[in-house]
Amino acid sequence: MVDATIGQGGHSYLLGKTLGPEGVLIGLDVDKEAVRRAQFRLKDLACRVILCRSNFSQIAEQVHKQGIEKVDFILADLGVSSAQLSDVEMGLSFLEDAPLDMRIDKRLKTTAADIVNNTDEKTLADLIYKFGQDRGSRRIARFIVQHRKSEPITTTGQLASIACRALGRPGRKRRTRIHPATRTFQALRIAVNNELENLEKLLVSASGLLKRKGYIAVISFHSLEDRLVKNNFRQNERGGVYRIITKKPIVPGRDEIVENRRARSAKLRIAQKTEVGEQRSEKQKSDF
Ligand SMILES: C[S@@+](CC[C@H](N)C(=O)[O-])C[C@H]1O[C@@H](n2cnc3c(N)ncnc32)[C@H](O)[C@@H]1O
Repeated sequence: MVDATIGQGGHSYLLGKTLGPEGVLIGLDVDKEAVRRAQFRLKDLACRVILCRSNFSQIAEQVHKQGIEKVDFILADLGVSSAQLSDVEMGLSFLEDAPLDMRIDKRLKTTAADIVNNTDEKTLADLIYKFGQDRGSRRIARFIVQHRKSEPITTTGQLASIACRALGRPGRKRRTRIHPATRTFQALRIAVNNELENLEKLLVSASGLLKRKGYIAVISFHSLEDRLVKNNFRQNERGGVYRIITKKPIVPGRDEIVENRRARSAKLRIAQKTEVGEQRSEKQKSDF
C-alpha cells in the first residue's frame, strides 16, 4: 500500500498493523521533518516500510523505483498536519506572527511573501478568488498592493491585519464564523504548494497504479480538492475503471469534531478499481 501523505504516520501505523511481513508500505511526504518523525513511529511494524521525501505527484515513479508495479491500496490525507500548522517556521497560520513562507516543501523556490509582494493586483485578486473563494478578493488585493508601496509584506501578522482591514472586520470580531484572513491564507497556501495541480497528477497516476479490486481513499479539506476527487472518481466510474464505494463522502460525526476540531471539514471518498479497469490499464501499457 501507499500512504501518499505520511504526515505523523498515524494512518500508516494503523493500516500498517494489518500488513504482515510480506506486506510493503510506501509512505510519501514532501516535508522532511514529517518523513523523519514517521520513520520513528513506524519502526516496529512487521511489514517492510519504505519512506521517501517525495511529492505525491511522483507516486508512480516512486512505486516503480521499488520494483513494484501495482498496489492494493492508495491513501491520501490532503493538506497540512496540525504539527505543520503550529510550526511557526512554515508561516501557515494567521494566529501566529511568523515569516510569510507557507512552503510545505522547503525545496520549492517561491514563498507566499514572493507572491504577495511581486504579483500584480489583478492576478493577486484572481488568485485569492480562485483558490480562496473569497468574494472580497479585489479589495484584499487592493489593500495588499497599497500596503506594499510603503513596506514589503514579510510576515503572517501583516497579511492577516491587511485582510482584516480590507474586509472591514477587525481581528476576530466578524459576521461570518471564520477569521477574515482564512481564505486569503488558504489561497496562498494552495498557490505556493501547487496543491491542486499535484492532486490532479496523483489522481491520474492512481488509476493506473492500482491492482484489480484495489482501493483509493482520499480525505480532502476544502471544496476545491473535494471537487477534483469527486470528478475524477465519477469519470473513472463512467469509463468502467472504478466503482465508487462512497456515493456520498464520509464526514466526521459530532464526537469526532468535538475531539478534533480540525476534522470538521474533512470528506473521505473511496473508490475501487474494477476488473475492466485493470484490463484497460494493461492494454494501455501494451499499446504504449
Ligand atoms: C493531513 S497531513 C497527513 C497526516 C497523516 N495522515 C497522519 O496520520 O499523520 C498531510 C500531509 O501531507 C503532506 N503533503 C501535502 N502535500 C503533499 C504532496 N503534494 N506530496 C506529498 N505530501 C504532501 C504534508 O506535508 C502533510 O504532512
